[in-house]
Amino acid sequence: MSETTETTYKPTSPNSKLDFASVWEYDPAPESTDHVEVKEKYELFIDGKFVKPSKGRYFSTTNPATGKKLTEFAEATQKDIDKAVKSARKAFEGEWSELAPKTRGKYLFRIARMLQERAREFAVLESMDGGKPIRESRDVDIPLVAAHFFYYAGWADKLEYAFPGKTPEPIGVCGQIIPWNFPLLMLAWKIAPALACGNTVVLKPAETTSLTAMKFAELVKDAGVPDGVINIVTGAGQTGAEIVNHKDIDKIAFTGSTRVGKIIQQSLAGTDKRYSLELGGKGAMIIFEDAPIDQAVEGIINAIFFNQGHVCCAGSRLIVQESVADKVVQKLKDRMQTLVVGDPLDKNTDVGAINSENQFNTVNKYLEIGINEGADIYQCDCELPADGYFIRPTLLTNVSQSNRVVQEEIFGPVLTIQTFRTADEAITKANNTPYGLANGVWTDKGSKIFKIGSKLRSGVVWANTYNKFDPTSPFGGYKESGVGREGGLQGLSAYVNLK
Ligand code: NAI
Ligand code: MG
Repeated sequence: MSETTETTYKPTSPNSKLDFASVWEYDPAPESTDHVEVKEKYELFIDGKFVKPSKGRYFSTTNPATGKKLTEFAEATQKDIDKAVKSARKAFEGEWSELAPKTRGKYLFRIARMLQERAREFAVLESMDGGKPIRESRDVDIPLVAAHFFYYAGWADKLEYAFPGKTPEPIGVCGQIIPWNFPLLMLAWKIAPALACGNTVVLKPAETTSLTAMKFAELVKDAGVPDGVINIVTGAGQTGAEIVNHKDIDKIAFTGSTRVGKIIQQSLAGTDKRYSLELGGKGAMIIFEDAPIDQAVEGIINAIFFNQGHVCCAGSRLIVQESVADKVVQKLKDRMQTLVVGDPLDKNTDVGAINSENQFNTVNKYLEIGINEGADIYQCDCELPADGYFIRPTLLTNVSQSNRVVQEEIFGPVLTIQTFRTADEAITKANNTPYGLANGVWTDKGSKIFKIGSKLRSGVVWANTYNKFDPTSPFGGYKESGVGREGGLQGLSAYVNLK
């Protein structure tokens, strides 16, 4: 990122034409935290037991909505990773691989049901540690987590139907490294298919959001999953690198930044480890003049402000047909003024806290870069809480294709806006970034959806909607957005060797 910036970015407070504040005032509706337990510190989960880290080091995680320390996690170093891999190997070669596939499935079904039973607790902890609105963790994250376990539980004893004519065999010990934007959901995307196929795992959650993973470890113990099948180790990048470079791991699955994905790919070159990488994105939403505009505006709000824009497939670029651009942008601004930004645990909150101080600084830096590149900035007038890491939902207009804010992943509540005249121009603009994870098209015409959709170089194309997920749909990217697919039938093949 460039260090030279000429102007200092200051949040603006543009006046809206409408007095939304008086129309849209809600009383606080905080979710209770009485039913959740946050321990003072958490150990590593290895071989079915909670064990102290070999070097005795711990690091803290904060609640990004308050900036205050929430709890501590153990830092796993090489010795701990080795122990976790040995325990996963023992479980793989012992009990787990000898279990009847339908019994493996039963464990996954049990995990899914227990997640549903404890859904509220998981949702609250996810919001406390990561800053996402409780409405999302309650209605999106945790239900999808359970759905993933249910879905892959169903496949456990049907693998020969998934790969007709072949004999699917588990790969072995899988090292799995996940990010902070959907902490428990990314854990589910990794663990559910791996176990369904008969593998064992060593998983590392992200350092800013390890709480639900440790809570999940407690659930794994309660579910009676055989020791060593699931190992959860906490730590930052160095811990992740120890997993990637461990000699007795057969497969690496990673979700995170393209920068780290490239480091991992280089480390694995020349080894026989299999890998799948799910990396960054710079999704475009193409709005045609025949689109249902109000619906599209609602879709845009969801595409970029959902989860504070901490979504790899976020619709972070709006590409709107020139004839309706003014109308769409005005409606978007009006709708933005009604967004409730603040306490993630308040049930009215639409946009919560930025996940960490680091990410807060990154997003603010991009706003400054955008302004220096000549962009015009529009932000909602909403009041922000005094503490914690919050950023107003933001539009950047007057940007061009080569601007860094149009090319690079910002991973925050920031939408760039460009216009187009012809469909070809829209497609060229949408495809012109290093990424290719997801895009969206809004139009009234089905034929246009198929025509444009087939020319967009991304793993996902949503039509007249955005950010819709389902365990049965494969997900993954083109170009620098990654290698391999997760979810659906395709997600199984990442965890089997076919004979
Ligand atoms: P990151 O890629 O550093 O973190 C993701 C995971 O990788 C974490 O568990 C981290 O501990 C681990 N990790 C870090 N360095 C590693 C290494 N050398 N070897 C193995 N594992 C390693 O992402 P970060 O720094 O938190 O965020 C930076 C940017 O990455 C964000 O601004 C965003 O643009 C992007 N990002 C994309 C995500 C996605 O879902 N595609 C998720 C998170 C971040
Ligand atoms: Mg945290």
